[in-house]
Amino acid sequence: MLPLCILASMKIASNTIAAVKEHFHSVLGHMYDASEIDQFVVICAGEYLGVPSTVLSSASALKMSESELLKFSKAVNELKTGKPLQYVLGKADFYGLKMKVNSYVLIPRPETEELVDWIVKDQKEKDVRCLDVGTGSGCIAIALKKNLPRARVMALDVSEDALTVAQQNAMLNKVDITFINEDILDALGDLVPPGSLDVVVSNPPYVTSAEKDAISPNVLEHEPSIALFVEGNPLLFYGHIAGFAAKALKKGGCLYFEMGQTQPATLPSLLEKHGFSDIEVRKDLSGKERMIKACLK
Ligand SMILES: C[S@@+](CC[C@H](N)C(=O)[O-])C[C@H]1O[C@@H](n2cnc3c(N)ncnc32)[C@H](O)[C@@H]1O
Repeated sequence: MLPLCILASMKIASNTIAAVKEHFHSVLGHMYDASEIDQFVVICAGEYLGVPSTVLSSASALKMSESELLKFSKAVNELKTGKPLQYVLGKADFYGLKMKVNSYVLIPRPETEELVDWIVKDQKEKDVRCLDVGTGSGCIAIALKKNLPRARVMALDVSEDALTVAQQNAMLNKVDITFINEDILDALGDLVPPGSLDVVVSNPPYVTSAEKDAISPNVLEHEPSIALFVEGNPLLFYGHIAGFAAKALKKGGCLYFEMGQTQPATLPSLLEKHGFSDIEVRKDLSGKERMIKACLK
C-alpha cells in the first residue's frame, strides 16, 4: 500500500462521482469512519453538483466539469487537515435554517436546536422581548425570530467578527435583529431597562481547561477558543448572565441556558441564589443533562 502522504497528493482518477468517492476514502480513510466519508461525499455532491442524496447512488457514473472536480479536490484537502465540513462549505444547518459559518463562530450544534425548540414551544404566539447572550453565528437569535415572528430579538457578542457573521445570517434568513457588541462580563447595567425582557438565552463558553483533553482536535484546532473556553470557574459566564438576567427580566420572565458536563450539579443552586425559581433541567437526545430553564416569580 502507498504511504498516506502520497495517496493524499494523488489526483482524482476521473471526473465521476464514483472516482471522487474512492478518492475521499483513500485520503480520509485513516481519519474518519467509512460512513462519515460517504456522508461527506453526499453533502459535497448536493452542494457542488445539486445532486440530491436520494439519487446519488444511481449517479455514480455522472461526469462533472473540471471546475466541479476542483471543488471536490479542494474540499478533501481541507478535510484532511481536520477542518470540520461546515467550515469547508462555509455553512451549517440549524433548526431548518441555513447559517453561514467561518472560523470566527462556533458551528451550531444539535443540542442548541433542542434549546431553541424548548423556547419556541414555551413562547409560541407571545409578544416576547428576547436577548441571546454570546450569539456567535446568530443561530439562536435568528431561529427564535423566524419561529416567533412577534418577538423582538436582541443578540450580543464580545466578538466583532462573530457579529459580522451573525448580521449576514440575519440578512440571509430575512429577520430583523438588534445586534450589540458588548462583553457580558462587564457591568451591563444600562444595556436594557430593568424588568424589560421576557427571555434571556445563552449558550456561553463552558469548557474548562481541565476538560480540554477530552475535546476532539477538529474542534480544538478549528473552532474559536473564545467560544469554547472559560478560565477557572466553570460557572463564570452563568453567574454573570444570571445576575444580569435577574435585573433585566420581567416578573414571569425566563432564563434558558445550554450547559456542559460540569454545570448540572451546581447551576440550579446558583440560579436560586440569584432569585430564580421553577428551575427545570432537561436532557438532550443523547440523554445528557444539557439545558436548564429558570424563571422569576
Ligand atoms: C458557545 S459559543 C455560542 C455561539 C452560539 N450562540 C451557538 O449556540 O452556536 C459562545 C459565544 O460567546 C461569545 N463570548 C465569549 N466571551 C464573551 C463575553 N465576555 N461577552 C459576550 N460574548 C462572549 C463568543 O464569542 C461565542 O460567540
